[in-house]
Amino acid sequence: MEYRGYDSAGIAVERDRDLTVRKSAVRVGELRALTEGLEGAVVGIAHTRWATHGAATEANAHPHVDESGRIAVVHNGILENAEHLRAQLVEQGVVLASETDSEVLAHLIAAEVRQGRRLEDAVRESLRGVEGTYGIVVLDAQRPDELVAARNGSPIVLGLGEGEMFIASDVSALVLHTRQVVYLEDGEVATVRAGDYHTSTVDSRRTDRAPTTVDQSATDFELGGFSDYMDKEIQEQPEAVGRALLGRLDARLGTARLDGLGLDPRELRGIRRVKILGCGSAYYAGQLGAAMIEELARVPADAEPAAEFRYRNPVVDPDCLYIAVSQSGETFDTLATVEELRRKGARVAGAVNVVGSAIARECGSGVFLHAGPEISVASTKAFTNMTVSFAMLGLLLGRVRDLSATQGKRIVEGLQALPDRIAEVVEQRAAIAAVADRFADAEHMFYIGRVRGWPVAREGAQKLKEISYIHAEAYQASELKHGPLALIDPSMPSVVVVPDDELIGKNLSTIEQIKARGGPVIVVTNADLPCDLADAVIRVPRVEPELDPILLTIPMQLFAYHLARKLGRDIDKPRNLAKSVTVE
Ligand code: F6R
Repeated sequence: MEYRGYDSAGIAVERDRDLTVRKSAVRVGELRALTEGLEGAVVGIAHTRWATHGAATEANAHPHVDESGRIAVVHNGILENAEHLRAQLVEQGVVLASETDSEVLAHLIAAEVRQGRRLEDAVRESLRGVEGTYGIVVLDAQRPDELVAARNGSPIVLGLGEGEMFIASDVSALVLHTRQVVYLEDGEVATVRAGDYHTSTVDSRRTDRAPTTVDQSATDFELGGFSDYMDKEIQEQPEAVGRALLGRLDARLGTARLDGLGLDPRELRGIRRVKILGCGSAYYAGQLGAAMIEELARVPADAEPAAEFRYRNPVVDPDCLYIAVSQSGETFDTLATVEELRRKGARVAGAVNVVGSAIARECGSGVFLHAGPEISVASTKAFTNMTVSFAMLGLLLGRVRDLSATQGKRIVEGLQALPDRIAEVVEQRAAIAAVADRFADAEHMFYIGRVRGWPVAREGAQKLKEISYIHAEAYQASELKHGPLALIDPSMPSVVVVPDDELIGKNLSTIEQIKARGGPVIVVTNADLPCDLADAVIRVPRVEPELDPILLTIPMQLFAYHLARKLGRDIDKPRNLAKSVTVE
């Protein structure tokens, strides 16, 4: 799972009823060198860690092993009562080897095994005393014919091979070996042997999980000729958007078909509000989407970070369509929000990329994004497909209300043209790279937008900070003079988003205000503005005004990408970040 972002890695294999453990606080590449000589092993577990409890050191890397060196455990998630469990173990005389929450699992399971329990029962028994989230795999060196996995809040998927079996936290790790997979549900335990597997609940009830076939192949996850995944995924956007639109537009009636929502026209009309919930870039995509939905359908719509929403004990509106938006479908805060909403009887649909993921399953209905596997930590094609899906939802909701057939057809045509227009922006990458090069020594940047341009500015700032580590701050253009303008000087470049809409005059005066204070300006626009208007002008083609924000986001990706590249950053795996945030 190297691609997800990690800070240490480790592997444990069984040989002659003994565990051999190797760890690295650097990269998987280094771990590979450390595993020389272990090739004969037939069972093992490995892990890439993203530090939560304890620094990124070898001692804290997984697998964790009990004192007798018999039981090895890898764990994703966070154990909330770890401090209490660690103290109990210390009281019992156990010497803990790491600062992690995860290590306690190895000791607890080993204690149960010593009492004669089968590994599966020992895992079950131990998990009863554990609070928090986990996706674990356990290896007992004395019983090397089986592995036990369990899930609660962190994904676990079994890969069924012929005479061989796999367990992973994401199907992308499995597709090279098999496309037959079994997704564990929360509260489930699986015992896996080379030739078979069975599943049951933590409280010992048998469950029946039929395998599903993954609709992706190993090549979808490969770099091809690209130097990194972010570049590949930016360039894949025309095709990805084409897939999102496929079979979903009705040119004759000027509307969209989103059958996965499971809502008939009467139910669609009954929706009085739309609320989109997600984290990070998915939240910004939601914000961009909410604006389009409101504009196209005249239904009040907004977006909110999922965790903020669930912690403020929100008033749940029965006439609101809640939408959980997520690339991975595994983001903990978004999933927990869906669970909370469902518990309160709300109508929740998913806008999810990964089929079979926890959020997709929990929602039960929604819109799949069809962006294809997104490997780079920084989201690009999934973000774009989120916004395209929201545009289709806005169109659909609009057409059961007051959006005329003519207007609907105009939006359908705009959506159909998007893949080609995106390709035109991607083709400008050399010119955008040249602009990025000129600003590579900036320490801070502002991203300024107004109304349609505001979510674009937020996502632009997000992309820049996460992959280039340049401090970037997004502001509404109207807010500049209420404070942030004090920071403008020649060392503070501003990226200003200028859609060609009725607010263009206001945006031009914002640019003047920044220039008057000596601030360098980079304009991203689809209007015919003169090249000498600012220090740099990046132009994108026009689509339809309502859809402009989708296209205006693409140069933001390219700008951040080339700046990060110029600075020599590890683009696909930015420091401190993980692709799938399955912890709180
Ligand atoms: C930014 C980025 C993150 C994710 C966020 C939600 O480029 O990738 O901010 O957008 O962690 O992830 P998903 O969409 O998987 O729920």
